[in-house]
Amino acid sequence: MPSEWSPAVGARRGGAPTEAAGDRGAITMTTIIDGNEIGDRIRADVGDCVEALADAGVTPGLATVLMSDDEASETYVSMKQRACEEIGIESYHHEIDADAPAERLFDRVEELNADPSVDGVLVQMPVPDHVDARRVLRSIDPMKDVDGFHPENVGRMVSGDPRYKPCTPHGIQKLLAAVDVDTEGKDAVVVGRSDIVGKPMANLLIQKAPGGNATTTVCHSRTEDLAAKTRQADIVVAAAGVPEMIDGSMLSEGVVVVDVGVNRVDADTEKGYELVGDVEFESAKRKAAAVTPVPGGVGPLTIAMLMYNTVKAAGLRAGVDVELP
Ligand code: GUN
Repeated sequence: MPSEWSPAVGARRGGAPTEAAGDRGAITMTTIIDGNEIGDRIRADVGDCVEALADAGVTPGLATVLMSDDEASETYVSMKQRACEEIGIESYHHEIDADAPAERLFDRVEELNADPSVDGVLVQMPVPDHVDARRVLRSIDPMKDVDGFHPENVGRMVSGDPRYKPCTPHGIQKLLAAVDVDTEGKDAVVVGRSDIVGKPMANLLIQKAPGGNATTTVCHSRTEDLAAKTRQADIVVAAAGVPEMIDGSMLSEGVVVVDVGVNRVDADTEKGYELVGDVEFESAKRKAAAVTPVPGGVGPLTIAMLMYNTVKAAGLRAGVDVELP
């Protein structure tokens, strides 16, 4: 197992090898949560808001900035641009050489902050090591911070008055709601403590608000006996970035599993790799009441919620009320 995460201590291997039921007695099917379908529905609703804004003479604009040679980051950014164009959001893309001076990025962000055609500014993370990532997040105008990463927006979320919720955790709330998983009173375990997913996810889950009210544990690379924690969970959100680190032996019957991991592992395919999640899908499926696949689970929701935040930003800036889903 790569990274500093310790393997599940004493995890039981295997479990009932039935396709559908696990040890749950009566045959119960596992729901494979279709993120593409849920994301499409949200995007269609957000698209209606774009039309309403157009009636008011407003075209939302999203600027993406990529300062990286990483192939996966390039792919994510182009997916975001394409999604914008599909629903009528104007997209502006900016690339900066990965070895350019950091100031070039900060200057560009400043220009975009001042640009009246731009409602949202997104700098794709990670940025190169010579660029101070926290300064990048602070440099974006909080009103244009459609990622929800600026300290002002993080503070608003934590205090229960969110402006822009971070896209992936917000998307996970939407995804759970779409399959009628009520988080209230549930034991949720978030595996991973990144600023992008783990921390905001845990925060949203504890909020006294729809999609919250869960008793939430955050596990990370120093957690002892991870499996003991995940086995207590009604809902597991796996966001550690470690391929297939959670398997069915670490889960209880009837759990809902949300897999945020998108890990490239070597494989005998045309591209030389395949994508796997942080969850070992087949064994998790035997235990879970519902599980997200990789790909096609959380990813489409992240993009849908970016569209949502961009439209919200445009509405706020233009002073036009939009009825977001
Ligand atoms: N890198 C991975 N996920 C994200 C995201 O949601 N936003 C940005 N800006 N960068 C990312």
